[in-house]
Amino acid sequence: MDIVRESKELLVKNRWLTNGSQYTTPSTEHYPYQWLWDSCFHAIILAQYDTDAARAELRSLLSRQFGDGMLPHIIYWIPGTLHNFRWGVEGTSSLTQPPMIAYAVWEIHRHDPNQAFLEEVYPRLLSYYRYLVERRDPHGEHLIGIINPDESGEDNSPRFDVPFNAPSDISYEAHHELRVQLVDENTASNFNVEFLSRHGGFWVKDVPFNAIVIENLRALAHIASLLKQEEGEQFANRSVELITAAMREKMFDSGEFRSTYGLDNKPLIASTWAKFAPLFAGLYSDDEARRLVQGELLNPDTFWAPYGMRTTSKEEPAYRAEGFHDKFSWRGPVWMAPHWFVYHGLQRYGFADEAAQIRQKSIDCLEKSGFRECFNPETGEGEGAHGFTWGALVLDMNPAEEQGSTFFVADIEDRELER
Ligand code: GLC
Repeated sequence: MDIVRESKELLVKNRWLTNGSQYTTPSTEHYPYQWLWDSCFHAIILAQYDTDAARAELRSLLSRQFGDGMLPHIIYWIPGTLHNFRWGVEGTSSLTQPPMIAYAVWEIHRHDPNQAFLEEVYPRLLSYYRYLVERRDPHGEHLIGIINPDESGEDNSPRFDVPFNAPSDISYEAHHELRVQLVDENTASNFNVEFLSRHGGFWVKDVPFNAIVIENLRALAHIASLLKQEEGEQFANRSVELITAAMREKMFDSGEFRSTYGLDNKPLIASTWAKFAPLFAGLYSDDEARRLVQGELLNPDTFWAPYGMRTTSKEEPAYRAEGFHDKFSWRGPVWMAPHWFVYHGLQRYGFADEAAQIRQKSIDCLEKSGFRECFNPETGEGEGAHGFTWGALVLDMNPAEEQGSTFFVADIEDRELER
């Protein structure tokens, strides 16, 4: 299988142009819209070989920004095709998703420096991260909250079973119904986050989301610095410090970061891959990272499976290797985006061999089952959507590029000076 060629072909096959807006659907058959973090992944992949398409993807994503700065997690470009995606207001969803966009913008710039594009998107990026840091933290705790599991990108992860009051053997449909009801409740209160944090059915500070915010604020700081936007740079750097400290204070327990729920930040203890996400943002000490990687990630009884990293530990009662009939599941199956985050996290800490194994297991899944939405960790069988773009993230698991840190600031600045 020629993964590079097939990835590039899939990204073209899933590309749409609607009223001048170019975007890539995660799977044309199953998800015929534009999704927030999916589009950021597409831009990160395209940054390697087609930066014009990468920039077009992000321009479309930014074009439906809300007045308060929020970026919606879905844009329903073609009206009248809402299917069962009921969480919509006027052409978009009213939720957000893990904010990978500053990182994606920086990746494009790293491969193909273009200051005009940075200037074009910077005000919208700043306004999105300000929205997250200010509106999604109504009690000044320096942790960003989410109001629906879909905002984590891991829709039916058992990490959220406690706040959801969901049994560990909940079906796909029952879980979906709970989330849709939640959107209806959110809509009734007009998405007032302060109100929802007190009275809503779901108020979670999620570990991957906050780790992703931190790494993206670093990218925003680099962009602001290049553009000599001192205020934005200070905002981003200060927010990184505050969120990093708050995660340590309120989420760190027994050697790992744990998501919390409710006003009093009760820990969510279901064991999922979320504990590895802070590797991506460098939030563990070297010793903590080593213990976590050796004790948990590489442990076949918990996360390490023949076909990759289980998204839920095999020791959890909720663990199931399969999807739900023809549907996806975050209750065990391997997904390529978590693989990508962990790959980069491992590289960051110098676990090059382990990173290479994650990459190889990703390739094994694709070779066995093609570009599927997720994979049975024990057998590599594909689950959920077909023609799903996330497999192309393997193109950005590139050992030659890694140098122990995610950003290559010195590199970029030199190139900027040359231009
Ligand atoms: C599923 C995934 C979510 C993704 C979406 C579109 O809902 O759980 O993370 O963004 O599909 O691919």
